Amino acid sequence: MSKTVVISGASSGIGFTTAEFLQAKGFNVIGLSRNYPKKEYKFNYFLCDITKEDQVIKVCDEIKKNYDYIDVLINCAGMGVSGAIEHSSITEVRKIFDVNVYGQFLLTKHLIELLRKSNGGKIINVGSVAGEIIIPFQTFYSMTKAAISAFSEGLRIELKPFNIQVTTILPGDIKTGFTENREMPIVVEDKHYKHRIKNSIAKMAKDEQQGMPAIKVSKVILNLIKRKHLPVAKTIGFKYKLFVLLAKILPKSLLSFVVRKMYGE
Ligand SMILES: NC(=O)c1ccc[n+]([C@@H]2O[C@H](COP(=O)([O-])OP(=O)(O)OC[C@H]3O[C@@H](n4cnc5c(N)ncnc54)[C@H](OP(=O)(O)O)[C@@H]3O)[C@@H](O)[C@H]2O)c1
Repeated sequence: MSKTVVISGASSGIGFTTAEFLQAKGFNVIGLSRNYPKKEYKFNYFLCDITKEDQVIKVCDEIKKNYDYIDVLINCAGMGVSGAIEHSSITEVRKIFDVNVYGQFLLTKHLIELLRKSNGGKIINVGSVAGEIIIPFQTFYSMTKAAISAFSEGLRIELKPFNIQVTTILPGDIKTGFTENREMPIVVEDKHYKHRIKNSIAKMAKDEQQGMPAIKVSKVILNLIKRKHLPVAKTIGFKYKLFVLLAKILPKSLLSFVVRKMYGE
């Protein structure tokens, strides 16, 4: 019987590509996001803002009505913000944590019951290399992705007795609409920061637009779904694997120097 996969953030980018890819591979895919995909799609779809618990409960109840269990949950919905910490508002910060962290928590919380009923459920959380190597002028994004890795690690241990495995994927730069959808700061230069904010944002946008195609992530996800044992985390992209390894072994001060040279000047 085909496995059932729920994926958030399925209206575009990595989520959409993965939903279409898994549906074509014979999975029964249920996608959700706040908007319908702009492109044609073949998978099942629900509108849901994952930051609103009433909407999450409604969609999960609908899924429960139609399915006895689900096999895989892919928490892919996410957003970016950029800018200097000094110029950021608490509203912006709450918003990114709402989507990237609390939203993932809400969807996960309300689907664990269905995952427990599967014979070996899997949760794949979409983190980022930016959660392992903290990037200035998108510090809050990095914070949310570091939080997702922490969330996954705790959840992994809590759900182990229920035969539910949890992992985080850490994609490097991927060419999607993420760059365009990122919330831009009001202040991009001033007498204190001069061009540093603008330069940093331009560098991250360029990296993303020269990044890997979304299908690369979809293929890794398929591979993880097929695997018997999930790793704690999986970095995507050769050079990013190297970066993450170096971040683990280099002295923090040296890493900070390198990141400052790349994104801080
Ligand atoms: N692109 C990269 O370089 C990169 C690298 C590492 C990790 N990632 C991560 O990959 C994931 C997907 O990003 P992407 O690159 O595919 O960008 P994207 O095309 O902008 O996709 C973001 C998705 O999240 C959904 N979303 C945002 N807010 C939501 C909410 N409140 N409720 C439900 N869905 C919501 C969006 O749909 P709606 O607007 O329709 O709700 C959209 O489907 C994100 O978690 C991102 O952090 C991306």
